[in-house]
Amino acid sequence: MERQICSGIKLAKIKDLFPSSSLFRSRGVVVKMPGIVIVGTQWGDEGKGKIVDYLAKEADCVVRYNGGSNAGHTVVVGGKTFKFHIIPSGVLQGKRVYIGNGVVVDPEVLLSEIENLRKEGFKPDLYISDRAHVVFAFHKILDGLEERFKGSLSAGTTLRGIGPAYSDKVARFGIRVADLLDESELRRKMDVLVALKQKVISQVYNGKETLEKEEIVKKYAEFGRKITNYVCDVSFAINEALDKGETVIFEGAQGTLLDIDHGIYPFGTSSNPTAGGACTGVGVGPTKISKVVGVAKAYTSRVGAGPVPTELMDKVGERIRIKGGEYGTTTGRPRRCGWFDAVPVRYSIRVNGISELILTKLDVLSGINPLKICTHYMVKNKVVNDIPADLKTYEECKPVYEELEGWTDSLDWHQIAMGGYEALLPQAKTYIERIEELTGVPIKIISVGPEREDTIIKD
Ligand code: GDP
Ligand code: IMO
Ligand code: MG
Repeated sequence: MERQICSGIKLAKIKDLFPSSSLFRSRGVVVKMPGIVIVGTQWGDEGKGKIVDYLAKEADCVVRYNGGSNAGHTVVVGGKTFKFHIIPSGVLQGKRVYIGNGVVVDPEVLLSEIENLRKEGFKPDLYISDRAHVVFAFHKILDGLEERFKGSLSAGTTLRGIGPAYSDKVARFGIRVADLLDESELRRKMDVLVALKQKVISQVYNGKETLEKEEIVKKYAEFGRKITNYVCDVSFAINEALDKGETVIFEGAQGTLLDIDHGIYPFGTSSNPTAGGACTGVGVGPTKISKVVGVAKAYTSRVGAGPVPTELMDKVGERIRIKGGEYGTTTGRPRRCGWFDAVPVRYSIRVNGISELILTKLDVLSGINPLKICTHYMVKNKVVNDIPADLKTYEECKPVYEELEGWTDSLDWHQIAMGGYEALLPQAKTYIERIEELTGVPIKIISVGPEREDTIIKD
């Protein structure tokens, strides 16, 4: 069925992206099971926010499963820009939005995002997992202290307290959203946590900050009272939605190369942006996931430290950064930019089980000629087709490029998007099709601008 997506612009068969293969029979009843994971295939900032908002039009709800307010997901609608750090990107489509247990929640950021949406006339239909862990102000202090201590091994974090909050979760010192709703329980847990954090700040890092336990308890209990109506068992709600045949989008934050297990360790984040994280981070079984869709930028960008083999330190890199607006959504830092690298995207396809790709920001490459794509790496005369586990080898990887013809800068991408795939210049089609060949996965959607309308569905 063809759909009218935005103000009279016929975009295409978005419904086709939700698989009919997910229909199956169970005890004689037809059960629909469209759980779709949207995952970043590079170093984050692939344009997941725009894509989730676009796809959410046809979904029933969106759930975030990892990360916290380190994420910055941008959605542009009618010339207005929204930046989401914690609220899922489906919210502007008026869909139910959930924050899963795998997310670490900074209540201050959450409440300000709710408030900002209200000011813009949106009333989010929001649900927060009672099992999600809480990010406290002292986690942010510790983030800075740990980064300084790590020196050359620091990842250049967003300083949003992400690593320290996940560390407490795993060490079983953490405090969960459910605890914020019970002041005496919060105080009991804070007795231990604040005492520990004060010791670490003062005695390990020589930090000057003093933590006042009672002040923290009061402040976060107040946050608890403010969010209490949103809190629920998200695993229960999402399983129920899936069992009813609703379409659920699992919105990944960060990207595969930042994954705590599969990323470029230690230059990544502390959660699992990869597809498996959607199961543990929401509380659904792998059998509930119908497909995993990877979002890839038409070039590479990275904010923070660590090796990026195709990084461009020249005018081309600068041009991409300026044209692509490549400045961190959360921190404003300039992003490091480079050529498209097929190696991490192929690796992402494997570790996530991606069956199709969405290519974003193709428009940004206009006017660059020739274009280059990294097909594989060389390390000391040896061909490397995969991401090595050890940092030193990855630092030594030299990209091997092939050149493709670029296309002119003077294009009206909005017009092209309206014309669909056929309206793309042959050079742009060759670029897309070469990425399909190198990754072995079809590209189903091409994004050519930040707005919803600037989107092409490829048959
Ligand atoms: P995310 O973290 O993956 O959601 O990505 P970010 O929002 O951090 O960064 C993507 C940036 O690119 C945002 O400013 C988007 O508005 C913008 N964007 C997304 N898709 C496109 C596109 O196809 N073309 C252009 N020019 N900008 C895009
Ligand atoms: P979205 O969801 C890009 C990077 C940081 C740093 C490392 C660890 O917008 O794609 P952290 O604060 O998580 O401890 O930082 O990971 N990083 C991101 N880079 N996009 C993101 O999120 C990121 N979230 C974290 O720059 O190098
Ligand atoms: Mg981002």
